[in-house]
Amino acid sequence: MKYGIFGGSFDPMHLEHIKIIQNAYKQLGLDKVIIVPSFNPPHKSKLYESFDNRLEMINLGIMDYSWAIIDNVEERLGLNNSYTYLVIEELTKKYGRPYALIVGGDSLANFHEWKNPEIILKQTNLAVFSRKGYPDILETAQKIKNSYGCNIYTFDNDLEDISSSEIRAMIMTGISRKELFLHEKISKYIEDKGLYKCFDYIVKKLKDSISERLFLHSAETAVYAVRLASKNNINYEKAFLSGLLHDCAKEDNYDASLYPNILPQIVHQYESAKKAKNYFGIMDDEILNSIKYHTTGAPNMSDLSKIVFLADKLESRRQYSNVSTCRDLADRDLHQGFLTVLTNGYNYTKNRSLDMDKLTLETILWYNNCKD
Ligand SMILES: [Fe+2]
Ligand SMILES: [Fe+2]
Repeated sequence: MKYGIFGGSFDPMHLEHIKIIQNAYKQLGLDKVIIVPSFNPPHKSKLYESFDNRLEMINLGIMDYSWAIIDNVEERLGLNNSYTYLVIEELTKKYGRPYALIVGGDSLANFHEWKNPEIILKQTNLAVFSRKGYPDILETAQKIKNSYGCNIYTFDNDLEDISSSEIRAMIMTGISRKELFLHEKISKYIEDKGLYKCFDYIVKKLKDSISERLFLHSAETAVYAVRLASKNNINYEKAFLSGLLHDCAKEDNYDASLYPNILPQIVHQYESAKKAKNYFGIMDDEILNSIKYHTTGAPNMSDLSKIVFLADKLESRRQYSNVSTCRDLADRDLHQGFLTVLTNGYNYTKNRSLDMDKLTLETILWYNNCKD
């Protein structure tokens, strides 16, 4: 039997996953695609839903395809054995040698960090699918071919560059855009079972305290923040909460006279950091700082702060002339994206002779003098 293996967290399974298995099946001429949900993925951090719920979501997503099957091999192997080479060994015993291990172009770049990559390449071929925004896949594939002397097939996908992390943040905030990325049966299962509710308390509290318009901006900022966080190995929960709460006091009637030297449009960043702590109970200084400087920036910012600064300005509802160029840049290089957006904001204010906040100026000077 000519089969391909497609592993992942599937937390949750989404439409892009389904597109991948359809394309792999057709383009590689497979008899079966075996889907292997992670039990305890070594490359990823926390899983948000139980193995059984993730399994059920995959079942719902593939029920129309007789050639797609799930194997719970990682669960059978147990907690400490969820490595790809062990999974392939087990599957080979059951189904014979696999034709290909299906991997994303983005994980191909880190393939050398996987456990025993040379064993994996003796066990099977790699089939690599491309994603928008990763044009250098063929080059990476060639490098791996040269280093390991193996076969790598590439197959075409017109995939959106969207991850489970972002879709999960859409589900957590309840924004309707999630439906674009989920199979309707999976969406219904998530709804019926009340999945991905770990931040529900904060989400509801925020929703009740701000306008619908500001909530949508806050939710989309959280989605964009986790997008950038997952590309830069930054903590998911910190990015989500910082993005979600960054404007939490923006519509409050705070006392601006407490901030005599600060421009009125800037004050909400300080008030939002205070409210995140006192009203939403956030005690993490890194989150509070990222909220505190999301409008002005500050010298020597953490990656989390850069992410929140960018997510606020690049979230999917933002529309200005060069927003997609800035998004592409931020996707590829967080620091360069940050510098570009910071400088654009500075130039916009300067060219229109608008009042410049002192801290924005300090931030610009600090980064202009910084050689890193
Ligand atoms: Fe803001
Ligand atoms: Fe904002």
